[in-house]
Amino acid sequence: MHTFQPYPIDMLDFNPFQKIGKEWMLITAGNKEKANTMTASWGGVGVLWGKNVVFAFVRDTRYTKEFIDREESFSLTFLDEKYKSALKYLGAVSGRDEDKIGGARMHLDYYQDKTPYIDEGNLVIVCKKMSATRITDEQFISEGLKEQWYADGNMHTMYVGEIIEVLAR
Ligand SMILES: Cc1cc2nc3c(=O)[nH]c(=O)nc-3n(C[C@H](O)[C@H](O)[C@H](O)COP(=O)(O)O)c2cc1C
Repeated sequence: MHTFQPYPIDMLDFNPFQKIGKEWMLITAGNKEKANTMTASWGGVGVLWGKNVVFAFVRDTRYTKEFIDREESFSLTFLDEKYKSALKYLGAVSGRDEDKIGGARMHLDYYQDKTPYIDEGNLVIVCKKMSATRITDEQFISEGLKEQWYADGNMHTMYVGEIIEVLAR
């Protein structure tokens, strides 16, 4: 297991377009008995309701969604470039079908013995769930979004999570 240290959020050098959009992240949720993780490249960080927050978008069908919905917290793990193929795998198979964390040769750590994150990461954002909003067809203002992204009705839920700790190693 690696040693992670709390990292002051004011010192964070974090370009979301690069880190989330290009390098991707792992959304991990669950408890010490069972947890799951999935790759994500949509989302953001910002400020809302007086808190530093993350935004994560998770489709209805994702197994990870069940864990996010069940627990009070979740995490975002960012990894070095050498894990890109593992991220592709974790974003292609479901934890419903196989032990994909083991399959990717990754390991779970727990923040305060509770919130799971991926030990192989170099930066972890630990979040307490603030809200969950399912995106629905009638919310779209730009034309074509529904047809382009949701033809099969597999909608995203937008989770807003309060950043309660940033961990770096
Ligand atoms: C690069 C990449 C980015 C992805 N981004 C998202 C995302 O932001 N939201 C989402 O719901 N699924 C996203 N996925 C798909 C999930 O990672 C994928 O469906 C995964 O197998 C779900 O695993 P699970 O069923 O174990 O939760 C992405 C996949 C890849 C490869």
